Amino acid sequence: MGSHCARLLVEDGWLDLLLCDINEAGLEKVAAPLRDKGAKVDLLAGEITDPAFTGRLLAAIGQREIGAVIHTAGIAPQMGEKDRILAINLDGTIALVDAIRPRMAKGSCALLYASTAGHMPVTPELEALFEKPVPAGGTAELVDKVPDSMAAYLLSKRGVRALVRREAKSFGERGARLVSISPGLVDTVMTQGPVNENTQYMLDVAAIQRKGRPEELAAVSVFLVSPKASFITGADLIVDGGETAGMEQAGLGML
Ligand SMILES: NC(=O)c1ccc[n+]([C@@H]2O[C@H](COP(=O)([O-])OP(=O)(O)OC[C@H]3O[C@@H](n4cnc5c(N)ncnc54)[C@H](O)[C@@H]3O)[C@@H](O)[C@H]2O)c1
Repeated sequence: MGSHCARLLVEDGWLDLLLCDINEAGLEKVAAPLRDKGAKVDLLAGEITDPAFTGRLLAAIGQREIGAVIHTAGIAPQMGEKDRILAINLDGTIALVDAIRPRMAKGSCALLYASTAGHMPVTPELEALFEKPVPAGGTAELVDKVPDSMAAYLLSKRGVRALVRREAKSFGERGARLVSISPGLVDTVMTQGPVNENTQYMLDVAAIQRKGRPEELAAVSVFLVSPKASFITGADLIVDGGETAGMEQAGLGML
């Protein structure tokens, strides 16, 4: 979804971009057509959980103020152990938010990718743990309480939504906004492979019974960071073809 966001940002007139990802070759592939369209595109290859990453990010931004951030990096439950999922999806996001806050321009916006998974019911104990600020030592201090990688994914995204509600005020003090987006099932690398029982159930109860297209999420993302969305902050927008509403109507959670 990040590459689609980059393409639509350029179409929307954002012509000075910094693209970041762990996959350097992937960055080059995304950047080339954007440069052909006249955009200045800098690249930063890096691991978001590396403690040096945010310093490298700020160095790459240099003296520029940030107009918009769309943070999509993340991994799915089947892509890693629970500690790695929490570290990338939540600790990495918290470090990013802390690093960019002082550099956000007036009227700017940072958008964080959460997930409808972050709206699914969890035990009251886990909910309380992940609604609060993460301890100084990061999610490593919480991981023993998290049963498995699916729960780690749900909780990492719940944590991202809580972060947005908590930190919107500190962004507001700078005249900036902080929002999150919760995609449902979207047709990307992350959801390739056979449709399993859970996925089929999510599609069955949804109002629109197909996976989302990454460009549909990118269109909403570019709107959210634009001045057209100037009164939206501290909030999460569900973009899921009606999957979350359908699950609520059915009276069932996924897990
Ligand atoms: N695809 C879906 O159905 C879906 C649904 C809900 C939420 N999401 C969320 O949307 C976001 C984008 O997902 P996507 O479907 O485009 O996935 P994707 O796998 O296509 O893209 C994720 C990107 O993050 C990068 N990345 C992963 N780990 C990283 C790390 N440690 N450091 C730096 N970069 C790293 C990957 O290289 C990749 O380019 C994720 O946060 C995901 O959790 C996806």
